Amino acid sequence: MFNSQVLAAELHPRQVRYFPQIASTNDLALTLLNQSAPTGTIVIADEQTKGRGRLGRTWYALPGTSLLFTMIFRLPQSSLPRLTMLGGLAVCETLQHMGIQEVGIKWANDVQIRGRKVAGVLPEAAWDGGKLTGAVLGIGVNVTVDFAASPFRDTAISVQDASDTPIDRLDLLKRILARLDAWVERLESDHLFEAWRGNLNMIGQYVTVEGRRSKAIRVDDDGALILSDEDGTLHRVIAGDILLG
Ligand code: BTN
Repeated sequence: MFNSQVLAAELHPRQVRYFPQIASTNDLALTLLNQSAPTGTIVIADEQTKGRGRLGRTWYALPGTSLLFTMIFRLPQSSLPRLTMLGGLAVCETLQHMGIQEVGIKWANDVQIRGRKVAGVLPEAAWDGGKLTGAVLGIGVNVTVDFAASPFRDTAISVQDASDTPIDRLDLLKRILARLDAWVERLESDHLFEAWRGNLNMIGQYVTVEGRRSKAIRVDDDGALILSDEDGTLHRVIAGDILLG
């Protein structure tokens, strides 16, 4: 398990709120947004009892088997689409830099190793009377989760499964935070968009979205997926689950 003092020392000067157990790091981060927590503050836990995934799903892992954290951002509204790309890209590049093979991003932001999900990202914005007050970026990474006997056996993977050397959660966290910090400086740059787009692993392939089979042909500047039906009709998808094939 993590330790407050070690986290504070290792991540100094970043503000860190650590909990052995919490409902959801995103929920607390959204509360902290209203209490003037600065950009870069993270909420991190060893276990979540009400961890949330995309599309209203739950996200659960046994204590100490994942990285479960949320970063706070204060940013202009125009940067919100980039925040979504940031999380997936930072995790994807971290794993690549560690020498892990076949790492890619399944649109919009699932990080995969060999086509299996290793990390998910949940960005959420906070508004006050129509004005953006800030945003949070929740990241969950399977580090040593054992999927062998789980329903996700064929669709999920842990970082440890793809590495010959033991994965240390604190080391992995520091590497991901370093990538996040590096990209935050260039949130609005074409470079970030191109790096994210370059790691998408299903462009050019046939996918099924909400029962409709079409070809994923590109993403637009806001990160929406552009699909082409067999008759060439284009569709723009901003959120949802896509299946390969
Ligand atoms: C997804 O559905 O792929 C997104 C999963 C996001 C999970 C992370 S774990 C840390 C943070 N806190 C939450 O409640 N959810 C996110």
